Order: sequence, then structure tokens, then C-alpha cells
Amino acid sequence: MLTLLNLLKDGRFHSGQDLGLALGISRSAVWKQLQHLEAELGLSIHKVRGRGYQLAAPLMLLDPLKIEDVGPKWPVTVFDSIDSTNAQALRAVGQGQAAPFVVVAERQVSGRGRRGRKWVSPFAENLYYSLVLRIDGGMRQLEGLSLVVGLAVMQALRKSGVAGAGLKWPNDVLVGSKKIAGILLELVGDPADVCHVVLGIGINVNMQIAEEVDQKWTSIRLESGKSCDRNVLVAELNEQLHAYIQRHQMGGFSVLQAEWEENHLWQGRSVALIAGANQIDGDVLGIDSQGALRLKVGGVEKVFSGGELSLRLRDDS
Ligand code: ATP
Ligand code: BTN
Repeated sequence: MLTLLNLLKDGRFHSGQDLGLALGISRSAVWKQLQHLEAELGLSIHKVRGRGYQLAAPLMLLDPLKIEDVGPKWPVTVFDSIDSTNAQALRAVGQGQAAPFVVVAERQVSGRGRRGRKWVSPFAENLYYSLVLRIDGGMRQLEGLSLVVGLAVMQALRKSGVAGAGLKWPNDVLVGSKKIAGILLELVGDPADVCHVVLGIGINVNMQIAEEVDQKWTSIRLESGKSCDRNVLVAELNEQLHAYIQRHQMGGFSVLQAEWEENHLWQGRSVALIAGANQIDGDVLGIDSQGALRLKVGGVEKVFSGGELSLRLRDDS
């Protein structure tokens, strides 16, 4: 199916006959595949008598050769369609694939957000990326890791023309109040001994419409006004992750604490911390040397950590 898409991705007209010849199939088989592309991937294909078929807009697809050529050169596997790049990365660990490695996909049909929520993942528009690391230094290497990933994603976005990208504890990347990227870490193995961690990152890249997303969101394209080459973005993300993970591994989270706080959009703000059915109101003081949130609650400093916590603003100042 992607072979047909590879032929069409230049956005030019291709006759049914040429497509059939290139793929070694009949014209009616080409027609069926085109219908499938439209229905399955939500792509719009123009048909003009005498000229053939043309994608409504040219596509830039992910290409492992372009990505692996630069930066840390982690092996990259590209999927046309997958349930979730995190799920695939975990399966690959189970099958013995040696870390570090990267899994990316053109689309996810069961993209995972935090707390079992769905991550909206349309075909060829955004980045769905998972990096697998092997951790054998115990808990210290995991401390604050999701915040470190946030810093790397934020820097990659800034390099891609989104100057206003900032952080929201624990690991959202926002522009103002709009979400542009989400991060989901999943772990397999024994965190006190040897384990693998999957750093799952979703970045809204060229998405301009998404009725399914039920919160304020934005994308690189909406912020910069330009379409973004996802291969260049993956290479940039790899470089940023490589640099930040190295700093984290050598010095622990404390060496990145100040930098993280400088980029925290909600520093000093009045917030509600939601933990299931419970809510704690306070003012954000910052984070501690392990990445836990420091809140002033009723005049007293309290520290919070854990994957199931969410912050909401109490004022809109
Ligand atoms: P938090 O709970 O940490 O405050 P949040 O409200 O963004 O953050 P998460 O669970 O982190 O919630 O993220 C999942 C939510 O992200 C989903 O409920 C959905 O509203 C939203 N979402 C899904 N896909 C996208 C996307 N592509 N871009 C932006 N937001 C998305
Ligand atoms: C969030 O809820 O904010 C986290 C969203 C994480 C989405 C990314 S997309 C790539 C990777 N694979 C998934 O299934 N989820 C993460």
C-alpha cells in the first residue's frame, strides 16, 4: 500500500496504467488500492480524466535513511501504521532487540496518552516516536527522566521555529495554553536492577485540523506558518535527546533542575493538583533536585511526585 503512496507522494498526476505497470497489478487493482488509501488513511486523491490520479497535497514520508544519517545514529524502524509506537517498542524489547533504538510511525490507531487516554495520531501529519533505552544503573538514572525528555522536546521545537514552546509539570510541552507535544514513559524490567524504558513522544507537526482532540492544542505548522519536514525534526529530536540524556546520566537530574524551572510556564502560578478524586490547591514554587513538584500549600512547602498527577491553573492571570 505504501508503495502506491510512494509513487503518488510527489503530488503529481500518475495514470492508472503507469501505476499498474510500476506495481505489477491491474488498473482495477490500482483503483481498489486508491479507494483503500482514501478510506483507511483519510487521504484525498483527485481523479482527472485523461491525466490520472493526484494526491490533494504532496506528502513527505518518514525515511529512516535520512534520519539515521545524522546525530546519534540510533537504528530507526518506520511503520506505515501501528497500534502504538510505545507498544511496538515494548514488543521489540520482548523479542530481544538491543537498545538504544527508535520506532516511528506514519500513524497510530491506538496511540496512548497518559492515564489510558487516546493520543490522536492521523497519517503522515505528526510525529509518533519512541526511543528505547536500557537502564542498568538503578533508580537514579530514572529520576526526573520524563522532565529531561520534556526539555529535549522543547529545544527541538524551538529549533523548528516554535520559539514560544515551554514546559508544564510533569511532562507537557505547551505554547501558551495549547498542547503541542505529549510524553509517555513506559518501563519494563526491574527498575532497581536492569530495565528498559520507552520514551514515547508525540509532537503535533503539520496538523491543522483535529476535531477529536478535546483540549486546546497547536502544531509546529500552526505556530511557524510553515510546513515542517518530519525527517529533519526526528534527527533534531535525536540530537537533543542524546545530549540531555548524557547530561542526566553523568550528573543526575539536579544538573538540569534550574534549566527546567527557567522554562516552566507555570512557575509561581496558582494551581490545583489533581490526584484521582483529590485536589490540592497551592502556588508553584518549582521542582526539587529529583524533579518532584514543590507547592506552597496553606503557607507550607509540600513536595509531590508520581505519574498520575495533573496540574490545572486556578487563575488565568
Ligand atoms: P495533564 O493531565 O498532565 O494535565 P493533559 O490534560 O494534556 O495533561 P494527558 O493525559 O497528558 O492530559 O494527555 C491526553 C490528552 O491529550 C487527551 O485527553 C486529549 O485531550 C489530548 N490529546 C490527544 N491527542 C492529542 C494531540 N494530538 N494533540 C494534543 N492533545 C491531544
Ligand atoms: C500525553 O498524554 O500527553 C502523552 C502522549 C504521548 C503520545 C506518544 S505518540 C508516540 C508514543 N506512542 C504512544 O502510543 N504514545 C506516545
